[in-house]
Amino acid sequence: MVYTRSWLVLSSILLSAVLIMLLCQKRSRRGTKQTPPGPPGWPVFGNIFDLGAIPHKALYKLRFKYGPVVWLKLGSMNTMVIQSAKAAAELFKNHDQTFCDRKCLAGFTAHNYNRGSLALGQHGPYWSMLRRICKMDLLANKRINETAHLRRKCIDDMMQNIVEDATMAQAQGESGEVDLAHFLFLTSFNLIGNLVLSRDLVNSRSKEGHAFFNAMNEVMETLGKPNLADFLPFLKWLDPQKIMKNAEQHFGRVIKIVEAFVEERIEEYKSGREKKKQDFLDILLENEGDGKDGIDKISHHNLIILVLEMFLAGTETTSSTIEWGMAELFRNPRLMANVKEELDLVVGPNRRVEENDIDQLPYLQAVVKETLRLYPVIPLLLPRNSLRDTNYMGYQIPKDTQVFVNAWAIGRDPDSWEDPQCFKPERFLGSNIDYKGQHFELIPFGSGRRICVGMSLAQQVVPLVLGTLVHDFDWELSSNSSPETIDMTERGGITSRKLIPLKAIPRKRFM
Ligand code: HEM
Repeated sequence: MVYTRSWLVLSSILLSAVLIMLLCQKRSRRGTKQTPPGPPGWPVFGNIFDLGAIPHKALYKLRFKYGPVVWLKLGSMNTMVIQSAKAAAELFKNHDQTFCDRKCLAGFTAHNYNRGSLALGQHGPYWSMLRRICKMDLLANKRINETAHLRRKCIDDMMQNIVEDATMAQAQGESGEVDLAHFLFLTSFNLIGNLVLSRDLVNSRSKEGHAFFNAMNEVMETLGKPNLADFLPFLKWLDPQKIMKNAEQHFGRVIKIVEAFVEERIEEYKSGREKKKQDFLDILLENEGDGKDGIDKISHHNLIILVLEMFLAGTETTSSTIEWGMAELFRNPRLMANVKEELDLVVGPNRRVEENDIDQLPYLQAVVKETLRLYPVIPLLLPRNSLRDTNYMGYQIPKDTQVFVNAWAIGRDPDSWEDPQCFKPERFLGSNIDYKGQHFELIPFGSGRRICVGMSLAQQVVPLVLGTLVHDFDWELSSNSSPETIDMTERGGITSRKLIPLKAIPRKRFM
């Protein structure tokens, strides 16, 4: 009886919400001046179903029917999708200020993550202060050069672990195939761990490191799932997919672990550790306030969020880019041979690849660019939000419109690229096209005010790891795999990852 009554109440609330939304949609359609073209939507749900399992791919198809600027209604959310270099140039060059705010997904409001975040923070003085700290103190070129030895150590550890893993497997009578994707992810995690906390988080001695790694994985998995409540606000309190509940729980766990790292550092200061800028945590602690000191100080909670953010933003992005690049080289043995030949000429057999070799390795750099063109790991960038009504390319775009910039579609646009679906690093040899936000046909790191703050770091790490893997090993595919059958299917989520992790057998080239 009680059950029936609450079911009736719930149904009538849902029905009223649906009616109100239908009414609002009708009214807003009547009031619309001229928004860009787009597919017709369903009542209430709008175009949610047009996104499919892999939204950037589904949206790319719409570009051929509706043009480079597409209008969608995702539930109640106005959404504009940018899908050509010309439209992106117009957005970033002439309207960046209007579109420099972020649209925040519901899962990221758990533990007020969005309020402390740089990546999701609203555009304003607090965001500017965080961005300045990250740019000047953690991710500036000078600081990146000073930390080259940390990357060297993490990559050496990775190479040693790969050899040990393969040897152990062979000793057990197996082929010696290693899960390359796994090693790349651990290495990226340790790289960030060293820069941010001066810790090798994932080694056999660090128990908290492993707990942190596992809990972060759960956070990323939960937040990567599409959430209906993002588009239909009346579902927020119902949380039908339990995404909010899980985000609260998983964020809660990682926050506790990071809090312990921070406390440990504070104790070290108390017992005489010199307070000098050694890592990101030292820098953040220097800027810590009690939360009431105004916008130029960071509260304790927000400090923890920023530490977390470096892992969320910097780990999977870097490791997936390298994995896609290696997968393309496995699929194209001729290109793999070209990279190896260049490395043998410049580096030779008697030493390792170093960061200062990268300038002398144009073919390797071209492979990285081609990887970022075909596999921008945040394919729709991080959604922007319009701060005010604006006229964009002759369309009337209302305030609070979500904007997806489909970097994946732009990288495969036949108007910008010859043979766009084909992996051809040669296209970049002798070309000045770069990914730093000035050439709008190639924007894997975004552009404008919100361009990726970790781009300089990624620019060092990706070619260094890729180059080292190719220089030090000959890679063989296992007997049930071949270059033609490597599966390149993507897994959905905020970042685009290979669904089937890349595996291969390493054969050491030099003793
Ligand atoms: C291959 C590696 C990477 C790729 C492809 C990538 C891509 C991106 C993209 C597309 C954005 C959004 C840009 C926009 O909206 O215009 C972004 C933002 C961001 N990235 Fe990266 N990223 C990478 C590595 C990193 C690393 C290593 C870090 C830090 C350690 C990092 C930290 C951030 C942060 C904090 C933001 C937010 C910036 C803001 O909103 O002001 N990223 N990244």
